[in-house]
Amino acid sequence: MASKITKIGVLTSGGDSPGMNAAIRSVVRTCAYLKIECVGVYRGYQGMIEGDFKALDARSVNNIINKGGTILKSARCDDFRTKEGREKAHTQLIKEGIDAFVVIGGNGSFKGALLFNEEYDFPVIGIPGTIDNDILGSSYTLGFDTAINTVVDAIDKIRDTASSHNRLFFVEVMGRDVGHIALNAGVGAGAEEILIPEQNLGLERLLDSLKRSKASGKSSSIVIVAEGDKTGKNVFELKEYVEEHLPIYDVRVSVLGHMQRGGSPTCFDRVLASRMGVKAVESILEGKSNLMVGIKDTKMVLTPLAEAIKAHTDIDEELIRVSDIMTT
Ligand code: F6P
Repeated sequence: MASKITKIGVLTSGGDSPGMNAAIRSVVRTCAYLKIECVGVYRGYQGMIEGDFKALDARSVNNIINKGGTILKSARCDDFRTKEGREKAHTQLIKEGIDAFVVIGGNGSFKGALLFNEEYDFPVIGIPGTIDNDILGSSYTLGFDTAINTVVDAIDKIRDTASSHNRLFFVEVMGRDVGHIALNAGVGAGAEEILIPEQNLGLERLLDSLKRSKASGKSSSIVIVAEGDKTGKNVFELKEYVEEHLPIYDVRVSVLGHMQRGGSPTCFDRVLASRMGVKAVESILEGKSNLMVGIKDTKMVLTPLAEAIKAHTDIDEELIRVSDIMTT
């Protein structure tokens, strides 16, 4: 198979994350280094279906390592979920002479890649790009480190107001299914409580913790809430609940939203992206397919895409314990 690969496609798919551009740059430059043609597929699988392609050379990716978002654009594509959509995409790839592709994205993007490979035996390698850090087979996904630093920076600023006005803030962070952003940024920013989907401690515990906090002399508090938390109340309802049961608190809400997905990637994400791009292209040229590049114990590793999409990564129990101790 190795000798047959002369042109590799690269696309970003699903929610964007900081570090995607650094990964695109790495794929393109590794191809250039190995004298393989590289084609950018625009707007994720939608662009693949529509043949939205552009040849990329080493100079096409100048000055993007430091940029957030993705120069290739991204989309969540419903058409690619259908057999007809995937057939159109295959026709376009063959027409363009693309022999294999690298998809940078999350779980949904890998599911699509796997289906496509099953139907057309088309070589594909995944790079995990999502701020959620929820993909099995890699200790870190691209964008997670940047996102937690962005969240910590935002909470540090919110803390200024919280402490100046003796207020309690509920800060909602991203994490639809997992609480990695909430837990890590919560510990990093010194949050009083962290509500995550993996652990529903109940509203009583929240009230107890806030009561204890006041009694211990703290004048302000930050509670981090992952958007997928399981208390059954959103941040605004939590505010009302606490105001009703603990009127001593002056409560405010801050929803950080998409600012968590933007911004210049950290050095960690840039280095990780560069390493992953090299590994992805080299793996394709070694005849490998259906695998995701990841990092474990500082080493690049490959995991079957079928494994990577099976479940979300577990929350770090030790970090939960650390967080509990820190709120003493
Ligand atoms: O999967 C990454 C993520 O940022 C989630 O944390 C969040 O729930 C979701 O994307 C938001 O997606 P969209 O930008 O499509 O609303």
